[in-house]
Amino acid sequence: MKILKVYVALSADFIHPGHLKIIKEARKLGEVIIGLLTDEAIATYKRLPVLNYQQRKEVIGNIQGVSQIIPQKSLDYTENLRKIKPDFVVHGDDWKEGPLKKTRLRVIEVLKEWGGKLVEPEFTEGLNSGQLIKDKFGVGTTPEKRLKKLRNLIQMKPIVRILETHNGLTGRIVELTGIYEGESFREFDGMWESSLTDSTSKGKPDIGCVDITARIRTINEILDVTTKPMIVDADNGGITEHFVYTVKTLERLGVSAVIIEDKIGLKRNSLFGTDVVQRQDTIENFSQKILGGKKAQITKDFMIIARIESLILKQGQEDALKRAKAYIKAGADGIMIHSKEKDPSEILEFCENYKKLEDKVPIVVVPSTYSQITEEELIKAGISVVIYANQLLRSAYPNMLKTANSILKNHRAKEASEKYCMSIKEILDLIPGV
Ligand code: SPV
Ligand code: MG
Repeated sequence: MKILKVYVALSADFIHPGHLKIIKEARKLGEVIIGLLTDEAIATYKRLPVLNYQQRKEVIGNIQGVSQIIPQKSLDYTENLRKIKPDFVVHGDDWKEGPLKKTRLRVIEVLKEWGGKLVEPEFTEGLNSGQLIKDKFGVGTTPEKRLKKLRNLIQMKPIVRILETHNGLTGRIVELTGIYEGESFREFDGMWESSLTDSTSKGKPDIGCVDITARIRTINEILDVTTKPMIVDADNGGITEHFVYTVKTLERLGVSAVIIEDKIGLKRNSLFGTDVVQRQDTIENFSQKILGGKKAQITKDFMIIARIESLILKQGQEDALKRAKAYIKAGADGIMIHSKEKDPSEILEFCENYKKLEDKVPIVVVPSTYSQITEEELIKAGISVVIYANQLLRSAYPNMLKTANSILKNHRAKEASEKYCMSIKEILDLIPGV
């Protein structure tokens, strides 16, 4: 008698009785082949898996009734289904509605090609692995766990999406904001602790007068209420003898990466470009600083990202590329290439040239002035991390200003409250307490 083939796709990051029920039902129909989602597949549509592919494979392989495990490289079953041509696909009936609805319809379509059937046992209420993981692990993190996340994300996602934070509240926004786009969940992967928005929110200019101690206070405030990885903007890192201590402190706190820029003298924001006096460090000096930082870190996970200011200071593509090569040689774990142009052409040109280098590290960009560029275009250019460096503060401030003006104009708060403010109830409920 022909043994029928049954295909079950699983992430299996957190095995619960619901999974066992599905496998048991599948077993009744024939030989069970598990399509185990790869780490990259999971990271692309939800979050980083807690266990990696090999670990998850080991767990699933020891479940009774599982005959074979093959990788499923995306949420879409099509490739594996056409390869295996199973007689059945088994999935809990919970996907009839919600973000997986389209995936389900595609499975039914593809199965029709050889007369396969979809079998949908009743979903085990209350056993949703995403929710369970959130309940069990999502409530907090440790510095070690948080620190590692950025490297994992860079490895697993086509692009890592980072948003600016400058206090606990903006940290919560990065932590919690997410939308469904078809079947995938889009969220920010981590936080940028910006010198510009940290200084501005303290009412001070971005010239390094908010010192590292004050910055660390803000960093701690954000880390206290979030679990996502953080990249810290450390201006030029100060002198090497001081930078080594900053590296140790940030690493101990669980910050994943520090970005330092190759400038010297009074710190001025890069977006001023050549309108103000800004000087670039020598390649030798800056390389020594990177080297010093790399020697100072304790873990292998902490990243020191070198920020090249050659395009900002009109020193040309060749200089930028020469610096990239030198900084990578000195041990930089990533290169941030910055531009203040209104279109992305110089960044894209840099990326084209960069592709030809033998030794490469991930590229980071900050599209503040050339904000029309999409993440898809950045991925095509080979960019690994995009930082949205200031948008939360820039959107909050105009509204606060309108509110202040409205109170002055109307001699009362009614108009501002109705037009520009969330309700009292909403603000009280925003951060749940006891
Ligand atoms: C920041 O956010 O502070 C940065 C990026 O360093 S930029 O403002 O573009 O220089
Ligand atoms: Mg800055």
